Amino acid sequence: MKVDILTLFPGMFDSFLGHSMMKRAAEKKAVTFAVHDLRFFTHDRHKTCDDKPFGGGPGMLMKPEPVFEAMDALFGRRKRPAAGKATGKTRVIYLTPQGERFTQKKAKEFSACKHLVFICGHYEGIDQRVVDALVTDEISIGDYVLTGGEVPVMAVIDATVRLLKGVLGCEASKEFESFSRNLLEYPQYTRPSDYRGLKVPPVLLSGNHSAIEAWRLEQARKRTAKWRPDLLKKR
Ligand code: ADE
Repeated sequence: MKVDILTLFPGMFDSFLGHSMMKRAAEKKAVTFAVHDLRFFTHDRHKTCDDKPFGGGPGMLMKPEPVFEAMDALFGRRKRPAAGKATGKTRVIYLTPQGERFTQKKAKEFSACKHLVFICGHYEGIDQRVVDALVTDEISIGDYVLTGGEVPVMAVIDATVRLLKGVLGCEASKEFESFSRNLLEYPQYTRPSDYRGLKVPPVLLSGNHSAIEAWRLEQARKRTAKWRPDLLKKR
């Protein structure tokens, strides 16, 4: 998979891509990352990427030209994916609180793609012509507003790349995850079995695998009922 990131703050990705799973995924050649500074695609002395919204209103908007030019540079003579069509193997993803909610299902869908391009918004948002002409997927990571698209882009890349073949050490651990079966995960413990008088539930030390499985399912149900009753309804 190839992942291109268009951003005004390329330095924010150094740490994210240089550590842990993302680093490992790139080393294993499961994915190639490229971070592109949108200011590189400006032509004025100040490298201006924002401007006031037509019609008035607070804040500044990201200008269309740097994003269009960055996309020209990425795709060259190759055909860009059709905007608004969230179906192909190449996706242009814009992170915005106004988008479709990101889920594990979406992460799985993205992980089957060959090429993902992420556009990080900033300020009050981006000129709508970028979205209308270039973007295949408008994605929100939740009902709250962040100061920019970089953090949500990292969340979407992380959730997607970890699903690529060979990235996680233990493939099975993906299957048991909360959202594949509409249950939150059960609580887990490691050694020591007694720490400052805080004891691990005895069933986990019993060696009785069917009892352990039953206990875990019960705990998962309890947690889900407490925090995410909406998931239980989907089961
Ligand atoms: N940009 C700012 N807030 C966001 C959110 N909640 N999801 C995606 N992109 C965003």
